[in-house]
Amino acid sequence: MNIDDIIDQLGGAAAVQTLLGVGPSAVSNYRLRGAFPEYARVRIWQALKARGIHVNPETLADLDTPPTASGQPASALSHAVGMPQKTPQILLIISGGIAAYKALELIRRMKDQGWAVRVILTKGGAQFITPLSVSALSGDKTYTDLFSLTDEAEMGHIRLARDADLVVIAPASANMMARISHGMADDLASTAVLATGAPILIAPAMNPFMWANPATQANTAILKSRGISFVGPDSGDMACGEDGAGRLADPMAIIAAAERMLPGQGKLQGKQVLVTSGPTHEPIDGVRYIANRSSGKQGHAIAAALAREGAKVTLVSGPVTEPPPPSVQVVAVTTAQDMLDASLAALPADIAICAAAVADWAVDGAGASKLKKTDGAPPELQFRENPDILATISTHQQRPKLVVGFAAETDDVIAYAKAKRARKGCDWILANDVGQDQPVFGADENEVHLITASGASHWPRMSKHDVAKYLTDAIIKEITHG
Ligand code: PMT
Repeated sequence: MNIDDIIDQLGGAAAVQTLLGVGPSAVSNYRLRGAFPEYARVRIWQALKARGIHVNPETLADLDTPPTASGQPASALSHAVGMPQKTPQILLIISGGIAAYKALELIRRMKDQGWAVRVILTKGGAQFITPLSVSALSGDKTYTDLFSLTDEAEMGHIRLARDADLVVIAPASANMMARISHGMADDLASTAVLATGAPILIAPAMNPFMWANPATQANTAILKSRGISFVGPDSGDMACGEDGAGRLADPMAIIAAAERMLPGQGKLQGKQVLVTSGPTHEPIDGVRYIANRSSGKQGHAIAAALAREGAKVTLVSGPVTEPPPPSVQVVAVTTAQDMLDASLAALPADIAICAAAVADWAVDGAGASKLKKTDGAPPELQFRENPDILATISTHQQRPKLVVGFAAETDDVIAYAKAKRARKGCDWILANDVGQDQPVFGADENEVHLITASGASHWPRMSKHDVAKYLTDAIIKEITHG
């Protein structure tokens, strides 16, 4: 491949400038010379590799890539159909702490992946590393100030947040976590976190006592409950002389976690998934309705976990206050009938997960006017049965390959859930025991049994996000190994 082809494949001269951290005149010189300098070849090789284009790392000459089914090399085919993917855009936030120096290594590793990295360095972070060293590695300006007129003219803080495919906060100090868990927006980093729609990965680093402190743990739980992912902290000797959990995760572990979260990555890439979540509201009259205590936490966490693995998720949700998970298409509905209509509209899908607590009954003849209180007997409500969404999907012509239901049971959990699986025709049931002292509806934790054709397995009480991760792992295993 000649130098012009390589620059085209990498997204043009500006992208190559960013990749190599050089100015426009350098790229013009490379074109004139017909070659990249030796130091740049590894980065170019890795960036091309990330796009599925295989070249010799030393000469950057085309390799004989294995032919595809069409007989063309993969690189030629991807070129022909315009497949080279957009360079992943990472917004890295470096907050204060001795581990900030490791963020420099992290930037190098991210660039090695062929990712474009923009960095926000907080005031605390700048106590440990300089904007100059960050820029030298990221190949871009280092953003520090929320109210900088120059920065706003070049790259508004909202665009900084919105352009990102993934926000990585590494190291994340206890202070940074406390501030973002409470929605503060008093500096560039916290404002960007509030304004982004991209998935967020946090790599905490702090003194072990600070990490173990109930305040930090509560903030971690809040952030996790909003679908924010964590990597680390690791345990070991700390720079402060203490020993315990609080070390920044290894840069390569952060890269691996980030890679899984980038859109277009993950093991469920190309899979279409339908998830139902939350309660339904069934009107009694124009102002009253029948509902239940489902918060949508479990269903939303499942949608977020599947999206993180690259699935294209449609989340049909009843009325909830849970925020929409990143990279998920949310369809808001009210009644069971609305939920059925929206779910059927989301077919065909590869996988369906019905986590919603759907009302079994709707009030017949509920009108728009408010029922009046009279001196006589209270009104008598007539009920009609609602459609069963899970059973409908399970027997549908466009039945997804894997259909998963939930069962909220108070007694004989496994026996009733097994019977429900057979009755509704789904493949798996996640049975939660809602009869224990510990609440499930509206709570942050859940304890479930996974019922499949081959038996039942128990998942001990854990966060609803962890239940979502376990379920996602089980789905990946099922889909990839049959
Ligand atoms: O939302 P959270 O506060 O996080 O709580 C999570 C949860 C407890 C609501 C969730 O984990 C759960 O158990 N959801 C199903 C609750 C329920 O209504 O179970 P069920 O036994 O009534 O229904 C069994 C299955 O049939 C469920 O998959 C349900 O979505 C589905 N169903 C039920 C009735 C109906 N008309 N249509 C359906 O699709």
